[in-house]
Amino acid sequence: MINVTYSGNYQDILTDDKKRTLKSIHEKLYAKTGEGNDYVGWLDWPSGLSEDFLNGIKDTATQIREKADVLIVIGIGGSYLGAKAVIEALQPHFEKNPNFEVLFAGHQVSGPYLKQLMSYVDDKEVALNVISKSGTTTEPALAFRFLQQYMKDRYGKEAESRIFVTTDAEKGALLTLAEEKGYKRFVVPDDVGGRYSVFTAVGLLPIAAAGFELNQLIQGAKDAEDELKSFNPGDNPAIRYGTIRHHLYEQGYTNEVLATFEPKLSFVQEWWKQLFGESEGKEHKGIFPISVVYTTDLHSLGQYIQDGKRNLLESFLVVDEADEDLEVFEAENNADQLNYLAGLSLHEFNLTAYKGVSEAHLSGGVPQIGVHVKKIDEYHLGYLLYFYMLSCAYSAYLLGINPFNQPGVEDYKTAIFKLLNKPGY
Ligand code: PA5
Repeated sequence: MINVTYSGNYQDILTDDKKRTLKSIHEKLYAKTGEGNDYVGWLDWPSGLSEDFLNGIKDTATQIREKADVLIVIGIGGSYLGAKAVIEALQPHFEKNPNFEVLFAGHQVSGPYLKQLMSYVDDKEVALNVISKSGTTTEPALAFRFLQQYMKDRYGKEAESRIFVTTDAEKGALLTLAEEKGYKRFVVPDDVGGRYSVFTAVGLLPIAAAGFELNQLIQGAKDAEDELKSFNPGDNPAIRYGTIRHHLYEQGYTNEVLATFEPKLSFVQEWWKQLFGESEGKEHKGIFPISVVYTTDLHSLGQYIQDGKRNLLESFLVVDEADEDLEVFEAENNADQLNYLAGLSLHEFNLTAYKGVSEAHLSGGVPQIGVHVKKIDEYHLGYLLYFYMLSCAYSAYLLGINPFNQPGVEDYKTAIFKLLNKPGY
């Protein structure tokens, strides 16, 4: 379902030694005995999802759509990017959803954003889904303080039935608050970390509320779980991608540019950056993930990629089929001199551009990986996101890194809290 191509010879990388290392990673991952093993619940999560659980999410999504025109999803990092990635990839570019909108808050601390959000929804019916695994993250907590008050002022007691909380089952300030107010709750499983949580209620409730097909999304993830679990490093695309990028990292390619020609995938790229950056960037190791959308960024970063410092590898996320397209037509006077393109569709143009760009960048010293997905729909997105999560686990373990923690993010938090005189800091 996903095809991974490489500009070098994969068989050369796949030495007996590498195969042994990969085999040991595979065994530890699936036996849940590797480093960070208390956070590998995502691995068999899709196949373990029950009909009842999915129906519960869908019913709540239906209730939300019945009583509201807008769902504001409050969350940051893994509690935001999965849903945002899927929704942005699936919704149309314009008139995103005329009857129902999913908007986001708490993913930064911007006064203008929050003020304008509250004024934008003032003539609309509103529901809130506040998402935080820890239940203590400052940015979403701050946004929720304002938005909860906004809901109380607007709806009084009825606000309680318009607020939905997704958090830990047993701890955190958000849980206490939800219990006190009787807000409807969904659980972030103990053994699934934020950036691996898109197929839990964290991602599924906003995605279902946006009107997308959960069964197809989950089917894609389930098929990926099933098809990618075999230890076959020659063919398994998740092992292939993880192994190639690790090999290139060892050759000095310490920055990975994830390129797509499909602007709707820009939040899949953001999600991917968090997944790989937060999973691997530890102990002064790891590939730095960067993203570009082509052909837009060929007119900005293209120069650097072709000709700048040679520490870049480029991985293309290629969509093989377009759901809508336009064909270049023959113009009478050919004043723009584009008749040579007549008969070519814009999708075909992009596929050709992919080949051309990849040849040019390769000749400029940028090795290439291609991750090919058939099309953008719920099923293929489910498959793709699971594929990346699994690749990331292989890639991080190849580096000798625990993919499932993020100790580094505590340092900046401590520094900010000290400056703000937070009690205890
Ligand atoms: O991947 C992660 O664990 C993090 O990026 C978290 O998702 C992010 O920090 C938000 O945390 P929380 O859901 O606890 O508010």
